[in-house]
Amino acid sequence: MSARICHVVGARPNYMKAAPVVRALAKYMEVEQTVVHTGQHYDFNMSDVFFQQLGMPEPDFNLQVGSGTHAQQTAAIISHFEPVVLKVLPHVVVVYGDVNSTIAAALVCSKLGVAVAHVEAGLRSFDRTMPEEINRLLTDQICDLLFTPSEDGNTNLIREGIAPEKVHLVGNVMIDTLVRMLPKSREYMPTSGERFALVTLHRPSNVDDLEWVAAMLETLSLISRETPIIFPVHPRTRKGLNQVLNEIQANKNVKLVDPLPYLEFLALQQAAALVITDSGGIQEETTFLGVPCLTVRENTERPITVEIGTNVLVGRDLDRLKYEAEQILGGHKPGGHEKEGRIPPLWDGHAAERIAEVLMRQYQGSAEVAVAETPGSVDLALRSSNAEKER
Ligand code: UD1
Repeated sequence: MSARICHVVGARPNYMKAAPVVRALAKYMEVEQTVVHTGQHYDFNMSDVFFQQLGMPEPDFNLQVGSGTHAQQTAAIISHFEPVVLKVLPHVVVVYGDVNSTIAAALVCSKLGVAVAHVEAGLRSFDRTMPEEINRLLTDQICDLLFTPSEDGNTNLIREGIAPEKVHLVGNVMIDTLVRMLPKSREYMPTSGERFALVTLHRPSNVDDLEWVAAMLETLSLISRETPIIFPVHPRTRKGLNQVLNEIQANKNVKLVDPLPYLEFLALQQAAALVITDSGGIQEETTFLGVPCLTVRENTERPITVEIGTNVLVGRDLDRLKYEAEQILGGHKPGGHEKEGRIPPLWDGHAAERIAEVLMRQYQGSAEVAVAETPGSVDLALRSSNAEKER
């Protein structure tokens, strides 16, 4: 009997994490995979184009939950995902990263008694004002298998009381995708040869406060006098900020563009003299590529990118941002380090294969046991109908 494995994705950073795991599992005969898209991100350039470029199978289900407050969005995913689980009866559901889709899907499974595996477990910013930190903490507490990208993830999980046997240090799946797509991305390299800095900003803490945004854009304008800036604008950033953005739009050294597809963006990261961001994934990608990165946040859940990579946290300090940018553009190493950035252990393009091995070991066995003894599906259906009666 095949192991039924269901993957849940919802937002842009999920796709490049799920794609290599789906591919690695597809190499096993005894597996049936289902991909569920929650519809948290729904624009073509925040979703479909990534599926196309990454060669992801079309989602089997799209829950089409769309935008809303955190409570609305999370609740909509929970109520739309439960019937899918009851229909598909997976042996395990795999959730990715730290977005609202991650915690919502994990919660559904934990209430139904379905096993959940978390890819990118254990990362902590220790900043509970970040919605993603709450999603990370809660997801890890209710998951059965936790796949960590780096040793600090293991340390955090053990400190939080997670049983060590649930935790598997596998490396970084996002880097699997990067390694696979790197040759293709070179076709998209800018041809002008002009030096530029690449900027992305979308964290609520950076883009929801208009005064701060205006100040930050002013600093970017100053930096752009020396080195032009390319700034793909996330819908969240675009929304509500049009007034401030219009001012910067008049500055021809800051080029605002729509969110970019994966390959185009990867090409720009490789060609950039400097990346300025508040994204989690981009801190990791620049570390792998050896490109200097300034992160406009007070903290990071990816400390390894600062400790051994090319990332520098500049905090909410625009003078520091400008200073560090000038240093890097003047030819100095990020953060004044003399050492070259290094690639963390197990960021080697094979993390998903390690995940697939663990999943197959664990759930291929349970699929066989389910046939021989009490089918998990019957158990699940009973639980659900009991839950219905209790309502
Ligand atoms: C979400 C994740 C964040 C991740 C980011 C990557 C959570 C809590 N946050 O933040 O961790 O880094 O995705 O992009 O899950 N919108 C569109 N079109 C889309 C998607 C969003 O216009 O396809 C707009 C909507 O108006 C929405 C806003 O962007 O209100 C924010 O989207 P949302 O999914 O709520 O959170 P993100 O800020 O994208």
